[in-house]
Amino acid sequence: MTAATDQRTVLAVRDLKKHFPIKDGALQRVVGQVRAVDGVSFDLLRGETLGLVGESGCGKTTLGRVLAGLEKPTSGGVYFDLSEQQRTELDQALRAGQGEDLAQLEAAHRVDRLDATNWRRFRRNTQMVFQDSFSSLNPRHLVSDIVGRPLRVYKEASGSALTERVVGLLEQVGLGRQHLYRYPHQFSGGQRQRISIARALALDPELVILDEPTSALDVSVQAQILNLLHELQQNRGFTFLFITHDLSVVRHMADRIAVMYLGRIAESGETTGLFDDPIHPYTEALLRANPDLTGDDEGFRGLEGTVPDPARPPQGCRFHTRCEYATPDCGWEIDDVVLQLEDTPALFDKLVGVERRSPFDADLEFVDASAAAALETALHGDEVPSSMKAAIEQVSVGAQTVSIKFREVNEVLLTPRGNDRLAACVLDALPSRD
Ligand SMILES: Nc1ncnc2c1ncn2[C@@H]1O[C@H](COP(=O)(O)OP(=O)(O)O)[C@@H](O)[C@H]1O
Ligand code: SF4
Ligand SMILES: [Mg+2]
Repeated sequence: MTAATDQRTVLAVRDLKKHFPIKDGALQRVVGQVRAVDGVSFDLLRGETLGLVGESGCGKTTLGRVLAGLEKPTSGGVYFDLSEQQRTELDQALRAGQGEDLAQLEAAHRVDRLDATNWRRFRRNTQMVFQDSFSSLNPRHLVSDIVGRPLRVYKEASGSALTERVVGLLEQVGLGRQHLYRYPHQFSGGQRQRISIARALALDPELVILDEPTSALDVSVQAQILNLLHELQQNRGFTFLFITHDLSVVRHMADRIAVMYLGRIAESGETTGLFDDPIHPYTEALLRANPDLTGDDEGFRGLEGTVPDPARPPQGCRFHTRCEYATPDCGWEIDDVVLQLEDTPALFDKLVGVERRSPFDADLEFVDASAAAALETALHGDEVPSSMKAAIEQVSVGAQTVSIKFREVNEVLLTPRGNDRLAACVLDALPSRD
């Protein structure tokens, strides 16, 4: 693990959002937005490794691609290479809103507004390694071309000097001269990932974004690639953003961890502290889903439930639909009633429509009065979590409708919890499991 060598910020991410439009019908009208990344802020300091962790579908790849400049943000900003003073000035300027100071900082540092010179500097200093080495390496190019291409494009070397630079890079990743004139398909998955890493390191970048670099590999090969990355990190002092769904992969490499859930950061902090003493129930659930990390002998339990639709993220805390500690203040809403109904097909089939006044307040209309009454009874039953029941402020049954009003709550935001820790949870600490 490499401590940050100075306080230079390689990336400052501020309220970053990336939404994808959902289009429908012959006219391809926009009917909604997939909120893949939905308000993310953090700093990545030079020389540090940040592990970005979360289940599949949480927005990690999208975030990585926006940070690498491969996708434009919908709103918010990614700022590259700031001194401590510039970072302070940036935050002051952002608080003050548009102005000359902000415009100047943005031209030099904001990734989607860089001038040509700064864009070139950013691109050569930010490299990405993808999970799928089959599609990220051109099958018709020789290894010598693949690894040598960045050096040619940036006119760093040519001719025999270029070949020697490529050999040097291959040796750094455990390959050699004998591999120069082969095609990607002639290698194993682990070797192809070594080639991807060699290519990413060719220009000696400041930042390497690794998106699930070992997830497609066998466990033993995974360990070899992780060791290689660890060594490179120790010897060369790269800044790594290591994206993975598997916390155990980053345990020994990351200085800090950011846990992502449904487009937002649920918790972040220094690695050891976060593993030993998670605050957010989602972090705890990820740790418990992985028995290697807890010494738990119950075996792999998986994480219950599925990630909700990012086009309609839950109110309050986005994790409330799956959280075993949820309280009445965690964002219970009409969608949760509809979800409960889906589990009772006989009743759900009788639901005609939902007339919403807000996410918390709606009339549910049924085909007949008995179905409406059945819902009201079901809302008092054992299937409904007690915290959800407690969040209901009003229920009234009409002829064929049930009107339900939940307690309204705001989004649960990340707040400082001491020791470099941030967590987005209404609880002060995790309830004890004993
Ligand atoms: N180009 C795209 N267009 C529409 N939706 C997308 C696109 N890329 C990703 N998504 C959606 O955004 C969400 C986050 O995806 P992704 O960033 O790949 O998550 P992760 O890497 O954590 O699995 C998913 O719901 C995914 O379907
Ligand atoms: S705020 Fe905390 S307790 Fe409430 S649902 Fe979210 S994670 Fe669970
Ligand atoms: Mg991904």
